[in-house]
Amino acid sequence: MTEVKLFSHDYRYLEPWPPQPTCAAAAHKTPSPTLTPRTLPAITVSPLRVWKQTSHTRRRREDSHTKVIPRKVAAGFAGRLIAGKKGYDHQMKRELREIGIDEVFAAREAIGDRLHHTPTFSSAQLSELTGANVLLKAELFQRTGAFKVRGVLSKLATLTAEEKARGVIGVSAGNHAQAVAYGASLEGIESKVVMWQTASPQKITATRAYGAEVDLEAENPNDAFDRADELAEQTGMVLVHPFDDPFIIAGQGTLGLEMLEDNPEVGAILVPVGGGGLVAGIAVAVKALRPDVKVIGVEPEQSAALYAGLAGGRWVRVKPDSIADGLAAPFAGHHCMAIAKDKVDDVVLVSEQEIREGMRFLYQRSKLACEAAGAVSTAALLTGAYKPEPGTTVIAVVSGGNVAPHTASGILDPDEG
Ligand SMILES: Cc1ncc(COP(=O)(O)O)c(C=O)c1O
Repeated sequence: MTEVKLFSHDYRYLEPWPPQPTCAAAAHKTPSPTLTPRTLPAITVSPLRVWKQTSHTRRRREDSHTKVIPRKVAAGFAGRLIAGKKGYDHQMKRELREIGIDEVFAAREAIGDRLHHTPTFSSAQLSELTGANVLLKAELFQRTGAFKVRGVLSKLATLTAEEKARGVIGVSAGNHAQAVAYGASLEGIESKVVMWQTASPQKITATRAYGAEVDLEAENPNDAFDRADELAEQTGMVLVHPFDDPFIIAGQGTLGLEMLEDNPEVGAILVPVGGGGLVAGIAVAVKALRPDVKVIGVEPEQSAALYAGLAGGRWVRVKPDSIADGLAAPFAGHHCMAIAKDKVDDVVLVSEQEIREGMRFLYQRSKLACEAAGAVSTAALLTGAYKPEPGTTVIAVVSGGNVAPHTASGILDPDEG
């Protein structure tokens, strides 16, 4: 079987990707008069702290140097890029593991029949608008309301009895939180999830209802990721990372298998991106079995860690600030970046307004009550951020549906935004 080769290289030395002139997002966006690439100074983030593992588990500062984001990229993220605060957790320090199609099949085996095989619906209106045959993969109907539980069950299946006895810890805006709580309960494992204080109250309540203890000390996503690392170290609980873990990525890849099997005519797949686990998993599955099928990531402009990392050629932290709370990852995973660099055809951006329109479209026309994160792939088609080849089949992954009614109505009501 084909395997994705990943290397334990340092992401500081990634080549810029994709080359700027061919980056669909950059081409699609018409910069505002005050933010043209010509007038906007490059953002300088200095110093970006990079950390490496010592012989123990303690961190030390390895070096410190200035990061310059290319101007075109900077136009989308002014003011939101930040330097690593406490350095990146152990993910940065350890070697990357290879992930191939065998791992995705193994994940499917591990998941068994515990999850739904979600349906795909065609959209006549989106097809008419784009000239392509547009399908919607309704993963919002997955157990716990999002795809995340695929990765979690895949990961939990790899834990030893001793690790299970220590319990698991997650960190999440809410969908991974619910998945960790749900999966751990299924397996009789104790679970704790670090969420942040502004996380959706509905997601917090659901996570508790599935059986996890919720830690709400963190004020924002960046603090939450740092806190989860610290708690894992202090308590010995096993970190079940929301995206930067080979087994999580392999589990998300099972969504790719389903789409290829259900719709062999597919030519391109649009995938919402937070930390990049879903797009990486789908890319591993799709490129191994059908290298001709394009995999396109879609990120909110205001939470675009993968895009910024790939376009700028190195790993960055961002301050997510989007209505798509499910995509509020403060950084892209290292495994995810490596796979995306190799296997993802493009990453495109959508604005807050475009996300709103995507969500309205799915609600009104397709009757899919999704959350904002799940609507970004549809938004990319509606706005032309991604223009499919006429006559081809395109699948937009509608990745989740966990949204409180009042939040949804605020977004769906055109007068609100
Ligand atoms: C609904 C939804 N869609 C997409 C994503 C993005 O997944 P990833 O972080 O693996 O890129 C998330 C992440 O939590 C999510 O909740």
